[in-house]
Amino acid sequence: METDKILLEVNDLHTAFRIKDDFYDAVDGVSFTLSKNEKLAIVGESGCGKSTLATAIVGLHNRLNTKISGEILYKGQNLVDLTEEQYTKIRGNEIGMIFQDPLASLNPLMTIEAQIEESLFYHTKLNKEQRHERVLELLDQVGIANPQRMAKQYPHELSGGMRQRVIIAIALACKPPIIIADEPTTALDVTIQAQILDLLNEIQTETESGIILITHDLGVVAETADRVAVMYAGQFVEIAPVHEIFNNPQHPYTRSLLRSIPQSNDIADESGELHVIQGVVPTLTKMPHKGCRFAPRIPWIDASEHEEDPQLHEVSPGHFVRCTCYKNFHFEGEE
Ligand SMILES: Nc1ncnc2c1ncn2[C@@H]1O[C@H](COP(=O)(O)OP(=O)(O)OP(=O)(O)O)[C@@H](O)[C@H]1O
Ligand SMILES: [Mg+2]
Repeated sequence: METDKILLEVNDLHTAFRIKDDFYDAVDGVSFTLSKNEKLAIVGESGCGKSTLATAIVGLHNRLNTKISGEILYKGQNLVDLTEEQYTKIRGNEIGMIFQDPLASLNPLMTIEAQIEESLFYHTKLNKEQRHERVLELLDQVGIANPQRMAKQYPHELSGGMRQRVIIAIALACKPPIIIADEPTTALDVTIQAQILDLLNEIQTETESGIILITHDLGVVAETADRVAVMYAGQFVEIAPVHEIFNNPQHPYTRSLLRSIPQSNDIADESGELHVIQGVVPTLTKMPHKGCRFAPRIPWIDASEHEEDPQLHEVSPGHFVRCTCYKNFHFEGEE
């Protein structure tokens, strides 16, 4: 990968939450890079640490009960070291965020225009009139018809799809080089979902931004991502170009996730039932102290034989796997 294209470099990032008197890692040693024009998808079941990772990158964690260590390198500085005040210059301006629930991210008491304008006010030198023009331009860009009228409305007057477009307009207002989208379409119906993803694609073509897309939806990943990181219990267990993840998945967890997609006949087992991953992601206080974190969820393997901490290693160029036994591991029906 050309290093001059790298926008963000995350090294050995840890995010620990205080629970009672101890701290527990929800993100446990995550490393990756994000390049210009790249879409990196992060997938994994609920509770794997995806949002915790996104929140740490945008510095929105609660500083009272969260400890962050490691590096988030952006333009030569480690964002982990920034104070909340210093972060406000980065957020919105350098890193735009789109979260799942547009209603929770919007202020119910402010008009759409005021909310988009706020970011322009803080981060640009545009005057009032120029800001107004830019708000209308942004609303138009995110596919909102009649921007003049929409600008004067309040969040509750808009549909879910429209609100998500407004969130995207806010995220884009300052043309940030990095966009982090955490489940941006989960709350929306399928046609709106497709429109929003198309919109992100268009924006990327125009701005060359790097996008981190967090989603449960492997269909969305297959269609939009360039690279995919599969997260399990706070760690990346596999990271590879999208075609490798779908055509040559190695980690048993990745293979398990792919087998649970409900659309192709060949992933259903003989009884016609979909593959379901047994058990659940361990909670922070129940995290295994050593060994493979996924092994306890595979009923037929002896977890005591997997007590060594597997490390991410490169199995082919750009394809990393955290597993020692993937070559000999087979699910029923797998070759
Ligand atoms: N503020 C917090 N304090 C304590 N534990 C937390 C806190 N926020 C998240 N967690 C725990 O950290 C782990 C990771 O949660 P996170 O929300 O990052 O998962 P996720 O992958 O985004 O899940 P989902 O797909 O449901 O959004 C979970 O075990 C969760 O219960
Ligand atoms: Mg989440």
